[in-house]
Amino acid sequence: MTDRFGRTIDYIRISVTDRCNLRCRYCMPEDGVPMLEHEDILRFEEIVAFMRVAVSEGIVKVRLTGGEPLHRPGIVDLVRMLLAVPGLQDLSLTTNGILLPQFAGQLKAAGLKRVNIGLPSLDPAVYAHLTLLSSLDTALAGLKAAVDTGFSPIKLNVVVLRGVNDDLAPYLDLTRRLPVEVRFIEYMPIGPLGEDNCLVPAAELRRKLEALAPLEPADKPRGNGPAQEYRRIPGAPGTVAIIAPVTEHFCRTCNRLRLVADGHLRLCLFGADEIDIKPALRPVVNEEALRALLVWAMQQKPECMPATASDYGRAMGSIGG
Ligand code: 5AD
Ligand code: SF4
Repeated sequence: MTDRFGRTIDYIRISVTDRCNLRCRYCMPEDGVPMLEHEDILRFEEIVAFMRVAVSEGIVKVRLTGGEPLHRPGIVDLVRMLLAVPGLQDLSLTTNGILLPQFAGQLKAAGLKRVNIGLPSLDPAVYAHLTLLSSLDTALAGLKAAVDTGFSPIKLNVVVLRGVNDDLAPYLDLTRRLPVEVRFIEYMPIGPLGEDNCLVPAAELRRKLEALAPLEPADKPRGNGPAQEYRRIPGAPGTVAIIAPVTEHFCRTCNRLRLVADGHLRLCLFGADEIDIKPALRPVVNEEALRALLVWAMQQKPECMPATASDYGRAMGSIGG
């Protein structure tokens, strides 16, 4: 389905919980976000009922996010249920990796093929400082579990903060050893750090990478995202890319909607506008009402919102990136 600006909307990011086992400084306030009540969170049956309608309207690619999606009890069941929706073409999941040693095998067995892992530093002290509640060893155990389980592609998300984790060399080294697609992401000023001069613009990230190693173009891995210019060190199994939501805003090619855990369709990451689909799910599922809300939501998508606007309505962490 196309929106008013000719963009094909075929991808949805579904946040399954607003809770997280980490407190990444660029994402969540230290004391967490006000948590949703259990009965406000969509049940799996409701998410699946919505997706049956969404797939029939052309939204055939899904990413599960959070908070931390592996923190939601029964997440493996949801993966299995979604993969059984006829017409669904792609399912992926964004995690901080902490629970992957426990879940990677079950997720793979349920049919999940690929994961994105947030790994904001490869330095133990910086990782601990940035995530507050875990250690680099734990995160690397998660990455190892993903590699050993055979997920492919494995994309690593690195939100770069100036003066904190802007040494990109360790990630390039990692691509020499592992088949991972490292994506350096511009810090979006919608987290708890606000405008705090953390942003390292894409142009600077590019220069940093070029100064570190000779890079050659690489194929884009499977996915729906805005990452550009995948490149690799000749012969390396892994690649690097840059995601520039701030300095190279990609609204023109936006292909997505978001479903927040409490059943609100969010039209744009950077705009507070949301449409509540719960009235079409409770007390009973009403497919035609769901379809009408979805079509309406797609037609309401804004053309573009500044990445610097101040009223997002929710914390980044609970929208799911
Ligand atoms: N800027 C950019 N990306 C962010 N994420 C969280 N907060 C920010 C931010 N302020 C991303 C992380 C994480 C995903 C859920 O959201 O990459 O993997
Ligand atoms: Fe899509 Fe909104 Fe992001 Fe633009 S700002 S790319 S419309 S989510």
